[in-house]
Formats: sequence, C-alpha cells, structure tokens
Amino acid sequence: MSRIKGTTRVCGLIGNPVEHSMSPFIHNNLAKLCGLDLAYVTFKVEADDVKEAIGGAYVLNVLGMNVTVPHKQAVIETLCDIDPLANAIGAVNTLVRTNDGYKGYNTDILGLHRELIDADISLKDSKVIILGAGGASRAIAFLCAREGASEVHILNRTVEKAQIIATDVNTHLNTKVADGMALADHVKLNGSEYIVIQTSSVGLYPHVDDVVIEDDSFYKKAKVGVDIIYNPAETKFMKCMKANGKEAYNGLKMLLYQAVSAFELWNDMHVDENVIQQVYQLMQEELTSHE
Ligand code: ATR
Repeated sequence: MSRIKGTTRVCGLIGNPVEHSMSPFIHNNLAKLCGLDLAYVTFKVEADDVKEAIGGAYVLNVLGMNVTVPHKQAVIETLCDIDPLANAIGAVNTLVRTNDGYKGYNTDILGLHRELIDADISLKDSKVIILGAGGASRAIAFLCAREGASEVHILNRTVEKAQIIATDVNTHLNTKVADGMALADHVKLNGSEYIVIQTSSVGLYPHVDDVVIEDDSFYKKAKVGVDIIYNPAETKFMKCMKANGKEAYNGLKMLLYQAVSAFELWNDMHVDENVIQQVYQLMQEELTSHE
C-alpha cells in the first residue's frame, strides 16, 4: 500500500500488548508487493472490550482481523462461523469478513504446517516431541495428530497441562497418539528420529542462553528441530540440535506463513512465492536492524 485513499481497506490486529507486533510490517509489505489497496494497523483492546471491539470493527467495514494474546479464546463467542480445526484447538487468530459476521480460523497452525513443508519435514507416520504446553503447543499437537503422526509426546514443566492437551487431542481426533509427560521423562523415550518442536517461552530474547532440556542424549534422539521462537534467530535449543549434528529451524517462517495464510483468506487470493521470499528477506533485515 503506497497511499491511503478513500478506497483503502483496513485490516488489523487486536490483542494486548500489540506494540511489539511484526504483523503490520509483514502485511503492509505483502499489500505493497501484491499491489493491493490495503492498510494494516494494530488495536490494543482490553479483555472486557473484545466483543464490542469485534462488533465495532465489523460495522466499520474492517476487512479482516488478526487476534493475539490474550484474546484468542475470548474472540470465539463473537464469530458467526468457525473453521473445524480452529474450533477443536479452541483458539482463533484470524477473522475473515463474511456477510453474516466474522468467520474464525487458526492460521498459526497453517503457518507451522507450511514451514514444515518448506523444510521437507513430513508429519505422516512420524514421531513428534513437543516441548511446552501453552497455546502454541496445543495447536501444534492437533496439527501433528491430524496429519497422521504416529506418536505425539508433549513434554512440559507442569505435566498436568501436557496431559490435558494430550487428552483433548485424543478425544477430538479419536486417536491414542498423544501423551503428556514431565520434561525429565525424556529419558524414557526410546528410539530416534524424533521431530522436536520447541513451543515454550524458554530461550526467548533476552534469555538467549536458556533451554528446557540441556542433556545431549535428548538431542541425539532427534531427527530435526523447530523452535517457534524467532528472536534470537538461533536459539539455545537450535544450538543444542546443531551441536548434535541435527538440522534446526526457527519460527520466522511460521510467523510469515501465518500472516500469508490470513492475507490470502482476507483477499481471496494466492500470494506468489517470489513475494513470500521478498517479505521473508525484509523480515530478516528488520530483525537484524533491531539487534
Ligand atoms: P503460548 O500460549 O504462547 O504457547 P504460554 O501459555 O505462555 O505460551 O506457555 C509457555 C510454556 O513455556 C509453558 O509450557 C510453560 O511451562 P508451564 O506450563 O510449566 O508454565 C513453559 N515455560 C515457561 N517458562 C519455563 C521454564 N523456566 N522452564 C520450563 N518451562 C517453561
């Protein structure tokens, strides 16, 4: 988007806080490179005002919204419709305008899925370990089970939270692949070739030397690691993976692809691969310039 005009459509992010978000940077660059008359802004919304904010956005003809912490669950009751996977996960991060109101999706999960496809990591018949049991872990556990992983072990400091996610996944998807374990129980996991997805907040800037599991024997059991953190660009978890000869990816592509998926839904279009690559490059430069 080069100039705001009378025809410019608005998309935005609701959450609290929102000031740190990279979404305006990503979406405004996508709009510019795709030649769309669209502007993306942030809206800081208090928990008590979510319903009013969404109703207001709809009557103001806002084209689409992203939703971030802490409103990803609360927003569900304001929707006219919800995507089945987002419904099962119980979290929505994207609202798409329809004639009856907003329909909710979870593009966080579409983002991770596209990142894994890019990295040539197939979930089908694979063994997965998910570190952490927050909102991201929950969405990822659903994705892994839905995509046909043969084992989904959720390891968390608070084991009960991991077990709740595992039970919900197994119940909703009518499977037995998921289980919840304590972090220290990684020693009980036999075999090798695990796909490890790091979803905890441990290792996030400025605590760049922290990692949930330090033990080399854990990393030896892995095939590949994905950290959903993108700042720092190489987390301690990724360093541990690489020190044991394994490939590791950060969460920057997941962030990009969740945005691309939302942008495609709002504008009913497919974003070209070369545009995606250009925005990825711009994101890397933007992050480096803030280091
Ligand atoms: P999100 O919703 O963004 O995925 P979250 O709900 O804040 O994130 O969850 C953060 C995760 O990081 C949780 O799994 C948390 O473990 P607990 O459930 O035991 O709180 C994990 N986490 C945060 N700090 C941790 C630490 N110092 N050691 C181990 N795990 C930690």
